[in-house]
Amino acid sequence: MRNALVSAGLIILALNVSWFVAYSAQLSVNGLFSDCPEDISRVFKNDAQIANIGILFHMMAGAFLTLGAPLQALPVVRNRWPKLHRKHGFVLFCLAIITGFGGLIYILLEGTIGGWWMSFWFATYGGLLVWCAVNTVRFAMSQDYDRHFAWATRLIVLAVGSWIFRMHYVVWFSITGGSGSNESLTGLFDRAQVVAFFMPYLLVAEFFLRRRKPNQIERD
Ligand code: HEM
Repeated sequence: MRNALVSAGLIILALNVSWFVAYSAQLSVNGLFSDCPEDISRVFKNDAQIANIGILFHMMAGAFLTLGAPLQALPVVRNRWPKLHRKHGFVLFCLAIITGFGGLIYILLEGTIGGWWMSFWFATYGGLLVWCAVNTVRFAMSQDYDRHFAWATRLIVLAVGSWIFRMHYVVWFSITGGSGSNESLTGLFDRAQVVAFFMPYLLVAEFFLRRRKPNQIERD
């Protein structure tokens, strides 16, 4: 019963992130094949080839990571097809590293639209994503499955964080019309938002992980 509920939640999550996955992948492809990517989006900069390449890889890898992470956690995949779970896990690890470092290189070279405050929190987000990906694989390889589960949970929260970021804006704009937000993402809402899209969700995950008894990984 519990597995059925978890599976339903993860499938609903995967379906919900799909619009953002398509947007991110499409922007990456458009940027790659354009002679003038800075006309497509403000994230591409004039004469900043390394930052542009970093963000191109970032958006493509991030798209697959956002969709792949919830699917990877499906109990049926974990329990019935462990080889698929393992192979897909290594692919997700690479995607997380590319997404994280692509974003971090971009921040280092170009900063973010929202200035140092946004750059700081986005860099924190990227660093945590890389750290969680490394630990998820490390504990899987040492067959410490309790710790693997805990790090994988944190990784999934962060993997869908970019989608949560956009969803907070969708909900906030539909309720308030965009109060406390501006185009350069320096409004009060924007400033709170660069922390709020991942930190509270990580804390909620942490709360449940700490209440979990060891070896409480559900089997079919
Ligand atoms: C997890 C999956 C992620 C996806 C799918 C994703 C996708 C995107 C997309 C589509 C953009 C273009 C901006 C837009 O049009 O909205 C973007 C920008 C950006 N992303 Fe990510 N991202 C992800 C994770 C991260 C992480 C972990 C970091 C931290 C290193 C990060 C840092 C950035 C930065 C700095 C920008 C440019 C912000 C600006 O100045 O406008 N992203 N990302």
